[in-house]
Amino acid sequence: MSNYHIKHLEEYFQVYRKSIREPENFWEEVAEEHFLWRKKWDSVLDWDFAKPEVTWFKGAKLNITENCIDRHLATRANKTAILFEPNNPNEPSEKITYEQLYKRVNKFANVLKKQGIKKGDRVCIYLPMIPELAISVLACARIGAIHSVVFAGFSATALTTRINDCDCQMVITSDGSYRGAKTIDLKSIVDEALKSCPGVKTVLVAKRIHSKITMKTGRDYWLQPLLDEASSDCNAEIMDAEDPLFILYTSGSTGKPKGMVHTTAGYMVYTAYTFKNVFQYKESDVYWCTADVGWITGHSYIIYGPLANGATTLMFEGVPSYPDFGRFWEIVQKHKVTQFYTAPTAIRALAKEGVELIEKHDLSSLKVLGSVGEPINEEAWHWYNDNVGKKKSPIVDTWWQTETGGIMITPIPFVTPTKPTYATLPFIGIQPALMDENGQEIKGNQVEGRLCIKFPWPSIARTIWGNHERYRETYFSAYKNNYFTGDGALRDEVGYYRITGRVDDVIIVSGHNLGTAPIEDAINEHPAVAESAIVGFPHDIKGNALYGYVILKDVGETRNHDNLRKEINQIITEHIGPIAKLDKIQFTSGLPKTRSGKIMRRILRKIACKETANLGDTSTLLNPEVVNEIIENAL
Ligand code: WTA
Repeated sequence: MSNYHIKHLEEYFQVYRKSIREPENFWEEVAEEHFLWRKKWDSVLDWDFAKPEVTWFKGAKLNITENCIDRHLATRANKTAILFEPNNPNEPSEKITYEQLYKRVNKFANVLKKQGIKKGDRVCIYLPMIPELAISVLACARIGAIHSVVFAGFSATALTTRINDCDCQMVITSDGSYRGAKTIDLKSIVDEALKSCPGVKTVLVAKRIHSKITMKTGRDYWLQPLLDEASSDCNAEIMDAEDPLFILYTSGSTGKPKGMVHTTAGYMVYTAYTFKNVFQYKESDVYWCTADVGWITGHSYIIYGPLANGATTLMFEGVPSYPDFGRFWEIVQKHKVTQFYTAPTAIRALAKEGVELIEKHDLSSLKVLGSVGEPINEEAWHWYNDNVGKKKSPIVDTWWQTETGGIMITPIPFVTPTKPTYATLPFIGIQPALMDENGQEIKGNQVEGRLCIKFPWPSIARTIWGNHERYRETYFSAYKNNYFTGDGALRDEVGYYRITGRVDDVIIVSGHNLGTAPIEDAINEHPAVAESAIVGFPHDIKGNALYGYVILKDVGETRNHDNLRKEINQIITEHIGPIAKLDKIQFTSGLPKTRSGKIMRRILRKIACKETANLGDTSTLLNPEVVNEIIENAL
């Protein structure tokens, strides 16, 4: 029996039970039947969450690009692998077949080699959503270099931190990028970032917007001439199952961003298997995920998962609002998109524009709708279901994380009955647990707790680059022998899960994870600022927005507060990026603190959310009097 493609609910339960009772047999069968190995494994799974250490398919040899590209050439050489839709609807779209992808990846891989990049070296990719982004990712994987993609909306400072943290010796970028009606000078951001990155030897620059940029002799090279000279044959580097495939940074509640390390075999098996089932992918489908490759969703479900299945994956360069809010629907119609995977924040922004723009387009090709990145609220769920899916395309509300590599809790469309705002059931092989405050598992249904995972799955991140202790501390110390997700969840009467949101100091704004600490650090750089605290509050479109409480050094500061607010947001933009700007900034003489000096964010959060009726006990605070002042001046 092939367990690869689940088609009805009975089968889901049957396969799920098998994956829990005999995880090794189960994953071995999936791995054996559906992938190309240079050598099979010696053992399927070795693990110890106490250390923590997880290895899958130990001893196996493979290259993920042979699985994503080469093996499809026999049957799908002329099938479109990547369908590129540019920012400007008047520019033609581009179809890259599997055969063309093979050649372009190999050429790129040869360019990397010629520039001295070898197996294990780190390469930073800072590109807009153009084909070179996917191709450079695959080219790194082809030669065993570890890619570290940095979302091209991050600032120079954020880029510097990420380049230096994992010692990248090369950066791949473009002259600039298109974003709706705007252009962004990516190369000058890279130039600024590299002032503090002595380890970077080479910068490869793709031409996209044809702007005038400066090229540093001996460091910066235009990409195209190098590609033109390169051979389109490049043997794939044979990798160990547990060799790192990539590093991807995610925000933590404290400290610098965490470079999550994903390895090769388990990541490949899990992303491919989830892709096939969660999107019920069929050979002639045109699949579109609107995420940016700069995030995990783009890695797993624009590039690796779809290509491992020989799918056609659409890459869109632009934004949902350009030239108008009908752009997504125009693309669905134009390319007859069958699966559409987006974020609740985009759904809410589109819903606000009404249904006229939808009605103008033919969306009848759609079969499955996906949601990811944050909880989807009931209103957005219904709007999506009624107007985009016309009540016939199931919504897969997929819960997962950068750390999990692949989708963890999700309906399987046409298999699992959906329920608004519920991510529903664990995917095959996933064993969730809800924990109480004392670290005990809460059994039974109709319960709420902190979401953990009890047992390893193939695509779990193996470490934090350069800081295994932080990895242990963050994910494996709160609940013994469990991976702690940082999210809260409830389980309903039939065992469906609903994710209620973060329980730590990570705030999800428009689907982007933002840690409060780095934003506060940025604000505190302002010469007039003494201290600050950030909390989230609900926002109609972004899900959450940021509320900052700021203490000025000179309490009698006479400068215009609006100017200070602008300056603070400017500093945040420089240090992190515009996504982390604050919606509200309240100046205050103090922040509520415990006797040990910790800021009581719970109180600040309630004030920002206008829930001041029940603030709880404030008498144990060091400075209870400040609470009234903050409430009186709340924005
Ligand atoms: C949140 C994105 C509710 C959650 C793939 C998680 C979700 C964090 C959902 C990870 C969902 C993601 N419902 N919440 N369907 N999907 N989240 O690392 O808080 O960018 O911990 O990975 O997003 O975000 P990340």
